[in-house]
Parts: sequence; C-alpha cells; structure tokens
Amino acid sequence: MAHSPSDLDQLAEWIVGSSNVVILTGAGVSAESGLATFRDPSEHADALWSKYDPMELATAGAFERDPELVTRWYHWRFTRVSEVEPNPGHFALAGLERWLTEQRSPEAFTMVTQNIDGLHQRAGSKRVVELHGTIHTWRCTKTGQEAPLSELSFESFPVTSTRGGLMRPCIVWFGEALPDQALALTGTALERCDLFVSIGTSATVQPAASFVQIAKQQGAKTVEINRDATPITDDVDMALAGASGEVLPDLLSRVQSLAGDRKIGDT
Ligand code: OAD
Repeated sequence: MAHSPSDLDQLAEWIVGSSNVVILTGAGVSAESGLATFRDPSEHADALWSKYDPMELATAGAFERDPELVTRWYHWRFTRVSEVEPNPGHFALAGLERWLTEQRSPEAFTMVTQNIDGLHQRAGSKRVVELHGTIHTWRCTKTGQEAPLSELSFESFPVTSTRGGLMRPCIVWFGEALPDQALALTGTALERCDLFVSIGTSATVQPAASFVQIAKQQGAKTVEINRDATPITDDVDMALAGASGEVLPDLLSRVQSLAGDRKIGDT
C-alpha cells in the first residue's frame, strides 16, 4: 500500500468539489510532534498502551483506586504535550480549514479529533470538535466545576479543589460517555458530509471507529491517510499510506493550486 501523486491529485479534486468535508484525526497526527501514539503496529513500537495498562490509568475505577497514580500520569502527559510543537500536518489541516471556510462557509469543514493535546488549536484550527475531551481543562469530582490546568497546583498529588474534591482531567475515560455537544456536532456534520477523511487513527475505538461507515451510508466519499493499515483500510474509497506530516502539506498545496485555476465549487 503506497500513495502516488495521482492519488493526491484525485483527493485534491474531491476536496475542491465537496460541500461538507469531515476530518477525523487521531494520535498519529501528533506522532511527528513527538507524542507517543496509543497503539503502533510497527516493531519499534513505543505506544502508550503497549507500556501501560489503560485499565490502570484511563478509567473512573482506576482514578478511584489510585488517584495519585492517575493524576501523576496525566500530569506527565500534559508536560509532554507542553514540550512539543504542532507539526506540518497540523498546520496543513488548519490551512485547509481556513481555505475552505473562506471560500464557502464555516460548515464546509468540520474537524473531529480524538486527541486531547490541543495541537490542532495551537496550529490555528478554529473549529475543533474534541470528542475525547482535553487535557488542558480539569474538573472537580465533587462540584463538577472546571478549571484550566494552568490554574492548578501540582506540588502534591492527587490535586484537590478549594472545595475539597479531587481534580481530574476533562478526558473521556474508557466506559464513560462522550461529551453531548461534541457528539451532536459530529452527528450533524456526518449527516451532511460528502467527503470523510480519517487521519492517523487506528480506527479501533468506538464510536469514532464507526464514523466512516456512517459517512458511507450518507453517500460520502471516504478516505484514509495513515502510516499503517487499519481495520477500515479496505473499506474506504481511497487509502493513502504515509505520514500525515508529509502527506497533508502536499495535499494542501495541490488543493490550492487546483483551485487557483478554478473557482472552488465548480466541478
Ligand atoms: P492509536 O494510537 O490507536 O492509533 C494511531 C494510528 O496512527 C495508528 O494507526 C498508527 O499506525 C498511525 N500513525 C502513527 N504515526 C503516524 C503518522 N506520522 N502519520 C499517520 N499515521 C500515523 O490512536 P487513536 O486512534 O487516536 O482515547 O486512539 C483512539 C483513542 O484510543 C485515543 O483517543 C485514546 C486511546 O485510548 C482516550 O484517551 C479516551
């Protein structure tokens, strides 16, 4: 599986000819920034869930059993996130959003991310649906009150609020419901989507793993951009094998040069 320049030209054509593009991103998009993914099929895997047990770190039960361990782990992950920069893949997606929304409308482009790192926003993406929450906001387990991580003190673990409740990250843990608003925004975008692109996700965690099928049922064209094959690779209309930090900037420049010759929306 490899992609050719003609695949990228074809995808650029599809983007220019689409009214509602939905992008789904996963941890692979942040890999070239230096953040570990969760699952990695390569033999040099350094993926988080191959070293740590998600049931010990990413469930409400784990937090109840050992809040210190879980808080320390998320604080470590926040430290990693704050040490890295968005990569060319993030910047290209921000450029694509800017470009499509200027040419059309804000609804022409929806980016749904499973990432909690905030790198899309740091790269300039404006409308990012954070399906799995964010590490940058924490919540008091007693009152539900949210606070930016920057306002919390991590001098001792676990962290407590002024009301005496334990503070936890606003991240969706295994077994928890996804944020209502994120689900609603995603549902609306998928309903009207005519091009769905899954990027850097192993397509194994629900409900995001099923979005490609929903998009397909709506009649959308479906595309995957991933360094490796995933369970959806054989189902999509086009699978581009490659690193998102290389493929996406190339794609953006093809979209821009294609549309330079042609008003966007003309087919
Ligand atoms: P995964 O770690 O499961 O998958 C990352 C995918 O990115 C894999 O398919 C890799 O092959 C691919 N990949 C790695 N580097 C890449 C690159 N440079 N360019 C393109 N693709 C690359 O991450 P997610 O699918 O995002 O949930 O994981 C889904 C959820 O599982 C996460 O949001 C997290 C985790 O448990 C929570 O924390 C709630």
